[in-house]
Amino acid sequence: MLSLDVEQLRWQDCYKLLIGAIVPRPIAFVSTQSAAGVRNLAAFSFFNAICPKPMLVSFAPMRRPDGSKKDTLVNIEQTGEFVINVVSEDIVHHMNETAPDFPFDVDEWDYAGLTPVPSLKVRPARIAESPLQMECRLHQVLHLSEEPGGGSLVIGRVVHVHVRPDAYDRGRILPNVLRAVGRMGGDVYARTTDRFELPRPPLPEAFRTSPGDS
Ligand SMILES: Cc1cc2nc3c(=O)[nH]c(=O)nc-3n(C[C@H](O)[C@H](O)[C@H](O)COP(=O)(O)O)c2cc1C
Repeated sequence: MLSLDVEQLRWQDCYKLLIGAIVPRPIAFVSTQSAAGVRNLAAFSFFNAICPKPMLVSFAPMRRPDGSKKDTLVNIEQTGEFVINVVSEDIVHHMNETAPDFPFDVDEWDYAGLTPVPSLKVRPARIAESPLQMECRLHQVLHLSEEPGGGSLVIGRVVHVHVRPDAYDRGRILPNVLRAVGRMGGDVYARTTDRFELPRPPLPEAFRTSPGDS
């Protein structure tokens, strides 16, 4: 095995290790707006669920190479609100259009070619073309490092979910309709259509404390 002492590596090399090793990553396509009302869209693949009740999710905006905060983080700290839109195969190219580092006062919806729909409980708009949108309020933000290569963890409380009716069946999300994409390293993405089932084995009888345990 190669043995890598990450303390001796540059942040860019640690970044390549993270994005190559933690794959595929789900993508939060985050809609925010500044206190002045400038709308912003940006993708974050350092994104995951935390717990269902309260319904908490998190994503991590890194610092820019000069140590400054990304616009999404600034907006969320100013307003406490955001929407996470799931990225499907249909909108992944639109998402990519918002990845350049646009100036703070630029409305990124103008470049995304997507349709804003008003949210019910927060001010940032949802993306009509996304099959599932989560309206979120800021629960907590942890600034973990302000150095280049550092970042913050944004924890959001989901206050409302919108899902395409055909993607929802008796409480379950249908992956073939959602067609979410994941991010690998570099510019590579993954589809979620190549799947297999792996039923969980029951708890071996020797460890069961009551007859119903499994
Ligand atoms: C698919 C994808 C995933 C990304 N994931 C992250 C991420 O997890 N953290 C991050 O800081 N930037 C990530 N980026 C880069 C940001 O989207 C990019 O820096 C963007 O310009 C930030 O916009 P903002 O300054 O308007 O917030 C990602 C970009 C793409 C295309």
